[in-house]
Amino acid sequence: MEKDKQIRIFDKQAAQYDKRREDPLQRKWREKLISTAEGKVLEVAVGAGANFPYYPASVSVTATDFSEAMLTKARRAASAYRSDVSFICSDTEELAFEAHSFDTVISTLSMCSYPNPIKVLHNMRRWCKPGGRLLLMEHGISSKQAVSVIQKTLNPLLYRYTGCHHTRDVMGMMHEAGITIEREERYWLGMVHLIWARP
Ligand SMILES: C[S@@+](CC[C@H](N)C(=O)[O-])C[C@H]1O[C@@H](n2cnc3c(N)ncnc32)[C@H](O)[C@@H]1O
Repeated sequence: MEKDKQIRIFDKQAAQYDKRREDPLQRKWREKLISTAEGKVLEVAVGAGANFPYYPASVSVTATDFSEAMLTKARRAASAYRSDVSFICSDTEELAFEAHSFDTVISTLSMCSYPNPIKVLHNMRRWCKPGGRLLLMEHGISSKQAVSVIQKTLNPLLYRYTGCHHTRDVMGMMHEAGITIEREERYWLGMVHLIWARP
């Protein structure tokens, strides 16, 4: 899909993501993961700022996304929940930070949308300090065969309308990118992964 078209698809979903910030199911997972962030944080593809309610008060966050409409919602959420967030409007695949710039690098529900997620994961490793942490909440192909068949059938349609792939092999991608997994939890028929990792 062309990048401009994908941005328009996400722009249109910004209001929906804004309303979902306090979704009770995701809230549990986000709180568990995001409350473990420390120090200088990079959050890629921040969307409408769904994680902002769960950051510890001590962290400072650099948040990025390529959708201006999402960033507008995220800026508003940042002022409601915390103040120490700076924003960058950019394609994640084009971000250029110095190596070892952040204590914690975070992605939630973004690996589904990149043309080249392994490149992003490699960069996330590089941007993270050697003793730092990568925190991810990602969705992908279910571990239940019947569900995965449905996902594979619906994926072309879902990708066209939501801009997200629903069949990515989340743990396969982590291993391919050389990420060291410390802890992993799976939910929702094995489709959702919470990951605590080292670069
Ligand atoms: C499924 S939403 C998730 C948003 C947020 N991280 C969350 O947990 O709710 C995916 C987000 O990734 C952003 N995104 C997708 N591809 C991107 C890219 N190549 N560069 C930057 N942002 C991207 C979209 O604009 C959207 O905000």
